[in-house]
Amino acid sequence: MYSQAKVIAGGLAHIPVVIAVFYFILTTFNKRALKFVEESKTKKPEAKAVEPKKVTVLKTEAAKTEPAKTEPPKVVKKKHADVPVNIYRPKTPYEGTVVENYSLLKEGAIGRVNHITFDLKDSDPFLNYVEGQSIGIMPAGEDANGKPHKLRLYSIASTRHGDDFNGNTVSLCVRQLQYEKDGETINGVCSTYLCDIKPGDKVKITGPVGKEMLLPDDEDANIVMLATGTGIAPMRAYLRRMFEPTEKEKNKWNFKGKAWLFMGAPKSANLLYEEDLQRYLIDNPNNFKYTKAISREQQNTKGGRMYIQDRVLESANELFNMIEDEKTHIYLCGLKGMEPGIDEAMTKAAEEKGLNWSELRPQLKKAGRWHVETY
Ligand code: FAD
Ligand code: A2P
Repeated sequence: MYSQAKVIAGGLAHIPVVIAVFYFILTTFNKRALKFVEESKTKKPEAKAVEPKKVTVLKTEAAKTEPAKTEPPKVVKKKHADVPVNIYRPKTPYEGTVVENYSLLKEGAIGRVNHITFDLKDSDPFLNYVEGQSIGIMPAGEDANGKPHKLRLYSIASTRHGDDFNGNTVSLCVRQLQYEKDGETINGVCSTYLCDIKPGDKVKITGPVGKEMLLPDDEDANIVMLATGTGIAPMRAYLRRMFEPTEKEKNKWNFKGKAWLFMGAPKSANLLYEEDLQRYLIDNPNNFKYTKAISREQQNTKGGRMYIQDRVLESANELFNMIEDEKTHIYLCGLKGMEPGIDEAMTKAAEEKGLNWSELRPQLKKAGRWHVETY
């Protein structure tokens, strides 16, 4: 029998149950809602991960103009592979026209040394070259056996831009070979031919050849040059490349190192390109040093003729300080006969610094820092 009060009490007693059920429903819903939010959060990076699709599209478009994405096998480029060689060979030489041919000597000088320039503009393929190379000259006429004369090599004395900076000439510095035999004066075939040719004459040219005397690309390199007589030819090209204002504008090579020229000549009147060298000294006092050995006007400490090796010995300390710097290159050009003398001087100079030249020289050679062209 239920009284009204009991019914009310019973109803009230169910309230906690209803609340519990309601709470259960609410938390379950909340958990799901939270899970959804969490899932949404973790899904965002997935949305980002889709982005590369765009990049892929861009890449695909770029690929139309750019090289394939897969890299080709690496081609190992040979050292100085870009340096031109043998564009013209003896069977098909280029016939260049003489532009000018003048003496480089002053009054009272010994012998004959000329500066000779050839026009290359009609060469096809174009006969281009770089500083430190040589060209071949095939003198006109025949030898004693009725065969055409063989070519002779001459170091190029101009930069690749040529003396007039137009890039279509090549210049040489040639000494006429003369010697006495059985009371008769013998004139060298090719050197005499070259010293005698006139502007407008055609000359058979081969080459270019040689990679031994190339300059390093490094603008901070130090360049030591040891030259006798016409051995100045490649050095003249280097020095123009370093210091001649118009040449510098053309070559965009801003030499910042030290250049040191040791020059051997028999007399002051035989010094070659002297005015240019003096001008470079004035304009570049911190970058250029010029040491002369004038064999028949100056004496070495033993009272003999002053040769460049004597000057090397005088400057042993400073020179070897430079050689110890791995940016220093040494170039030797001219008379073959000077090689033993230079070696001897370098041996003594090295000893003064506690170094062994016979070990050091092959190391310098291997490192591409010791360059020799003698004849
Ligand atoms: P040739 O008629 O060929 O006579 C030379 C020959 O004469 C010799 O082989 C020898 O048999 C003989 N002879 C020479 N002297 C004597 C002597 N005192 N007594 C007896 N017989 C002798 N020269 C330059 O002037 N400038 C350069 O820039 C230059 N660069 C050179 C670069 C290289 C890489 C080389 C290899 C040589 C270079 N020469 C240079 C030298 C040039 O190639 C010639 O050798 C030189 O001009 C002589 O050639 P020629 O035809 O006049 O003499
Ligand atoms: P010299 O001839 O007085 O003995 P050029 O080619 O104009 O004649 O210049 C070459 C220079 O090199 C000259 O001063 C010459 O001197 C010099 N010379 C000759 N023989 C040697 C040698 N063995 N070592 C170094 N210099 C030399």
